[in-house]
Amino acid sequence: MKSLSETDKRALEIRKWDKAAESFDKINFGIERRYGGFKRELFSKCKGKTLLVAAGTGLDFQFFNEGLDIIAIDFSPKMVEKAKVKAKSYNGKLEARLADAQAMEFADESFDTVVTSCTFCSIPDPVKGFREIYRTLKPEGRLLMFEHVRPANFLLGAMMDLMTPISRVFGPNLNRRTADNARIAGFNIVREFNVYLDMVKLFEAVKGG
Ligand SMILES: C[S@@+](CC[C@H](N)C(=O)[O-])C[C@H]1O[C@@H](n2cnc3c(N)ncnc32)[C@H](O)[C@@H]1O
Repeated sequence: MKSLSETDKRALEIRKWDKAAESFDKINFGIERRYGGFKRELFSKCKGKTLLVAAGTGLDFQFFNEGLDIIAIDFSPKMVEKAKVKAKSYNGKLEARLADAQAMEFADESFDTVVTSCTFCSIPDPVKGFREIYRTLKPEGRLLMFEHVRPANFLLGAMMDLMTPISRVFGPNLNRRTADNARIAGFNIVREFNVYLDMVKLFEAVKGG
């Protein structure tokens, strides 16, 4: 059987998230009650020019402090369409834009802060995504992440490994080793906080070892 080219794989991923965009807000209803406080606390550390990577429909815009200068990217046109509508309600500068996190058009060292939220469960090549963030973050910049990751517990981890081939057909991977991937790209994780077990976490990272 002929294997898919990288272009075909990317197109399939985009189609998957375009489809997910239709019901995304309904499925994620209640996210504010569950995790809003944690996200708000993390996002309150945003300073200067800020990049939100894989913004989806923009559900997270509500967690940013007012008055920031934010670019929010996603590679799914349907997600971006919805994010553009939510961006209008933000009290500050917020541009939702179509872009691939694995190959961003931004110049080196463009951003003071980069934010991710359930991003690295979904980016097809996470290390490539982290390398792009590393490139576009200023030397003194900070990476803020709210992510679900593969749990360290043997049974739970194995369960996530088993479930991922199914979950990734419709949405995210459940077994990403996000801290390891960030370190491979050169990040130094300066804070790691467990929000739910060791599966949903907040991370703060800076450039360099
Ligand atoms: C699980 S959703 C999270 C959306 C949003 N951050 C949230 O928490 O509501 C994952 C998102 O990642 C986006 N995505 C996946 N790979 C991407 C890439 N290479 N570049 C940009 N966006 C990507 C998908 O289109 C989707 O909107």
